[in-house]
Amino acid sequence: MIEVQNLGRDFTKGASSLTVLTDINLTIGELEFVAITGHSGSGKSTLLGLLAGLDQPSRGSITVDGVEITGLDEDSLSELRGRKMGFVFQSFQLIPTLTALENVQVPAEILGDASARDRAAELLERVGLSDRASHYPGQLSGGEMQRVALARAAVTQPKILFADEPTGNLDSANGDIVMDMLLQQNRDCTLVLVTHNPQLAALADREIRLKDGRIHEIVVHKKNGAKPRAKVVKKSTAKKQSANAARKKSAAKGKGGTKRKAAASGKGARAGKRA
Ligand SMILES: Nc1ncnc2c1ncn2[C@@H]1O[C@H](COP(=O)(O)OP(=O)(O)O)[C@@H](O)[C@H]1O
Ligand SMILES: [Mg+2]
Repeated sequence: MIEVQNLGRDFTKGASSLTVLTDINLTIGELEFVAITGHSGSGKSTLLGLLAGLDQPSRGSITVDGVEITGLDEDSLSELRGRKMGFVFQSFQLIPTLTALENVQVPAEILGDASARDRAAELLERVGLSDRASHYPGQLSGGEMQRVALARAAVTQPKILFADEPTGNLDSANGDIVMDMLLQQNRDCTLVLVTHNPQLAALADREIRLKDGRIHEIVVHKKNGAKPRAKVVKKSTAKKQSANAARKKSAAKGKGGTKRKAAASGKGARAGKRA
């Protein structure tokens, strides 16, 4: 659970100060899918960066699972990020000198996961890129790089996944694949997605609309927890995805499947948490 109170962010340059976020108050529940929308420059990426502890606010507080992250030093912050959070960016941000497999492996390795390599390989398979494991980012297409980035974000089994316009640089077919993967992740983890795309925002439980650095409007898209997931997937990719789903199911069985299933089934109850 993420709790945001009276959050503000200014950027100072010389004598002038620019207020980018003001009076942001927000609670994001466990397993919720929240979309952050608004015009370019409205403060979406700044807000996401603050929620993810990648930036420090000028005012206010952010609490993640009871820990106030706004007061943490960089070491504690990066430890918490590594353990709890995953990130997907519009520009992928893969390490160019590492292979696809190594890129996925690194965050789990940092946590001391002895099976980091196996887990990374399994995730690459899940995103349909087993045959690209030894390729470097420069040898991959945009869609492939984003699928690697998703696998990397998932390798630590984060509780919260942050994504900043993850489909912004992709064609619609690859955008659909990436979005569907994010929705699959959302069965087990909270998803906070920054997007320009109203159709993607409409898939969220709630949409937080920013305007000039303030919350302008909060739109509840799914009211009752009983929500058959809307699919953004086109017919042409559906076959591939049902294969992915089958793989995922058998993978989940193999490792803590019960816990993950319990988390997924708890999803129906979470609407009650929302105000
Ligand atoms: N590091 C920074 N220094 C100065 N201004 C910044 C910085 N980061 C963002 N801004 C400014 O903050 C405003 C909001 O930026 P951003 O959060 O990236 O918007 P969005 O993601 O909604 O397009 C913009 O006017 C941008 O120029
Ligand atoms: Mg942005």
